[in-house]
Amino acid sequence: MPLIGSFIPPGDKSVSHRLILMSLLAQGEMTVSGLSDCQDVNSSLTAFRALGGQAAKEADKLIIKGLAGSFSGWPQVDIQCGNSGTTMRLLTGILAGGQGRFHLDGDRQLRARPMKRVADPLLQMGAKILTDNGRPPVDIEGAKLTGISCRINDASAQLKSAVILAGLLAAGPTTVNVLILSRDHTERLIQFWGGNIKVNGLQISVQPGLLNLSRTFSTPGDPSSAAFFLVGAAFIPDSQVTAKNLLLSHSRTGFLRVLDRMGAKVSLTMECDTPEPVGEVTVTFNGPLKATEIQADEVPSLIDEIPVLALAATQAHGMTIFRKVDELKLKETDRLMSIRHQLGAMGARVKIEGDDLLIEGPTSFIIPPSLDSGHDHRLAMTLQLALKAAKADVPIFGTESIAISYPGFSAALEALWKN
Ligand code: S3P
Repeated sequence: MPLIGSFIPPGDKSVSHRLILMSLLAQGEMTVSGLSDCQDVNSSLTAFRALGGQAAKEADKLIIKGLAGSFSGWPQVDIQCGNSGTTMRLLTGILAGGQGRFHLDGDRQLRARPMKRVADPLLQMGAKILTDNGRPPVDIEGAKLTGISCRINDASAQLKSAVILAGLLAAGPTTVNVLILSRDHTERLIQFWGGNIKVNGLQISVQPGLLNLSRTFSTPGDPSSAAFFLVGAAFIPDSQVTAKNLLLSHSRTGFLRVLDRMGAKVSLTMECDTPEPVGEVTVTFNGPLKATEIQADEVPSLIDEIPVLALAATQAHGMTIFRKVDELKLKETDRLMSIRHQLGAMGARVKIEGDDLLIEGPTSFIIPPSLDSGHDHRLAMTLQLALKAAKADVPIFGTESIAISYPGFSAALEALWKN
């Protein structure tokens, strides 16, 4: 029973967050189509409105009025970021140079995630930020910021983006030097909205200044959501799946390069390049996959796809190695442990050695009485796909978390699954 057909994935979550949150620092009015309607993006929209932003739904479009940096923060704005790390981290950068007091909090999972590494460079810029021992809640008192030059060693786009966005309200230029390239949607949108930003390899420099919203923006489809079906097509015999209107940024499509190395047939047609590359991708099953090694510098380009790639690795011949994936310990759950426990419960041979994840395949699945996603949306979708592939139907705890990133996932899976 294969996955067959074509589908249009929901709007990209990372781009959707930025369209909303960066409108806080932009003037003008914009009509956005295809925005993601997931819980995480709705957390950004709620925050935008709490800060005085106007956003109105019209049919399937959202009309956003830019707030041009004049968000209201008196006596204090309380912002509930829910499960969304991107909302909290990008907002911390944006609000640090604003006026007022802001209290950012999140759910139980978000409260366990690191904020110190975001606060530290912002403190160097003169920000006034308090965390609870390096974790949320985060209290910000708007301050006059000065541009800095800093080095960011963690391969996190959220952290890089927080500093770049703070730079838009700082006095003087801000330069960020990163060790590894990560998703560059913030940089591209600043450029597209008329900001002064220069990217030179691993160095990004931004000048202060407000942005100008484009009149319209069409949100490309989310590769991290599409990945469940594209990766599924690579390892489930007789499958062929096409994703249309897909964001094809090099910084997000590492999983397609890995599937290609593992022997799947991957074909790609580029349709446009600005402000983001967009096109169509077809993945066709091409015989059993072979194991591969994923290097540290590839990890940011496939960070959210590791759970589903790990599932594919259980069906590949040989030992697949994901090098230096310790960032996964800091996600909604410790994803290294979740992958080991849950795929392990299905008979997969999974080892964690230092910061590396090793999976030896192929595995004939065994079916446990139940599985547990730990309320981690990407795990929940991976496990649903795994059970389909194993032709089994046992309960998975925590599948309501899927709405955090892809509310239409189960319906799309059913539509592509051919009996
Ligand atoms: C994101 C960056 C990544 C990714 C997350 C979204 C973003 O997190 O895992 O889902 O939109 O910038 P890190 O930057 O912490 O790696």
